[in-house]
Amino acid sequence: SKPKILVARSVFPETIARLEAHFEVESNQDDQTWSKPQLIQKLHGKQGAFTTGSERIDAEVLAACPELKICANMAVGYNNFDVDEMTARGVLATNAPDVLTETTADFGFALLMATARRITESEHFLRAGKWQKWSYDMFAGSDIHGATLGIIGMGRIGQGIARRGAHGFGMKVIYHNRSRLDAQLEAECKASYVGKEELLKTADHVVLVVPYSPASHHTIGAAELALMKPTATLVNIARGGIVDDAALAAALREKRLSAAGLDVFEGEPKVHPALLEVPNVVLTPHIASATIPTRRAMAELAADNLVGFLVHGKPVTPLNPAVLGGK
Ligand code: GLV
Ligand code: GLV
Repeated sequence: SKPKILVARSVFPETIARLEAHFEVESNQDDQTWSKPQLIQKLHGKQGAFTTGSERIDAEVLAACPELKICANMAVGYNNFDVDEMTARGVLATNAPDVLTETTADFGFALLMATARRITESEHFLRAGKWQKWSYDMFAGSDIHGATLGIIGMGRIGQGIARRGAHGFGMKVIYHNRSRLDAQLEAECKASYVGKEELLKTADHVVLVVPYSPASHHTIGAAELALMKPTATLVNIARGGIVDDAALAAALREKRLSAAGLDVFEGEPKVHPALLEVPNVVLTPHIASATIPTRRAMAELAADNLVGFLVHGKPVTPLNPAVLGGK
């Protein structure tokens, strides 16, 4: 008989149809929000799970679902997985890298531009009927071209943003990362490696693209915000928790930072109420990879991993390949 899988969130009907060719599929096409006990109940007895960033796969879930062999995340980030625990229990984890890189870099750049040029703030003003006359400094923002772009987290998405800034907008690009890029990649991105403190002190625009982990929790907190120029902007397309949202809201309110653009939030879909009260922040609901072709490619890659592993024994993008050797 076919392996049993759970598709934990609503996804393209074509993806479900493809999975049904290989698996006995229980899906959630009406996109109900499940509590952890409900998730465990649905996942029990399944060999595979198609997950998104919203399902937490931790020790409790794994202990309750001993037949589980693979969780395929339709996201590049996988901080919803306890990968160590999955490895210990012989459960394969896969993510969806690469297919979303350029789409997400586009969005990071769009959010930077919207933030620096006050696009949503000025639109709210216009829609509210407040535009009575033009004035010389109305919604004056800061320049992108020629400015110094500081990127924290120089993975594939960070490199995509660096290329856009350096080649498209003549920006000076500096970056900080756990490890330095090789010389060829640095040259392609026209990016120079600097320490985090130097980056924060010198960048006109800071973009965050680091994966979330306990070590990257509050990469930007009150102390880091204090290092930034009061004219600077900050963009977070990484994960909620990379920025201390309360400290950021205070810095924005007190104009210790000129503006911010946020696609991800601590505790999302809740947004810190103080952020909703400051005008100089652009807020979007975690949509950086949201184009239909890219979301299709992400869903296909998650499905490729499920079929590849459960049917052929060969996943495409395993995160803990040690599991493969051990079985
Ligand atoms: C989205 O946040 C992702 O990790 O793909
Ligand atoms: C992932 O973290 C990336 O930047 O591709």
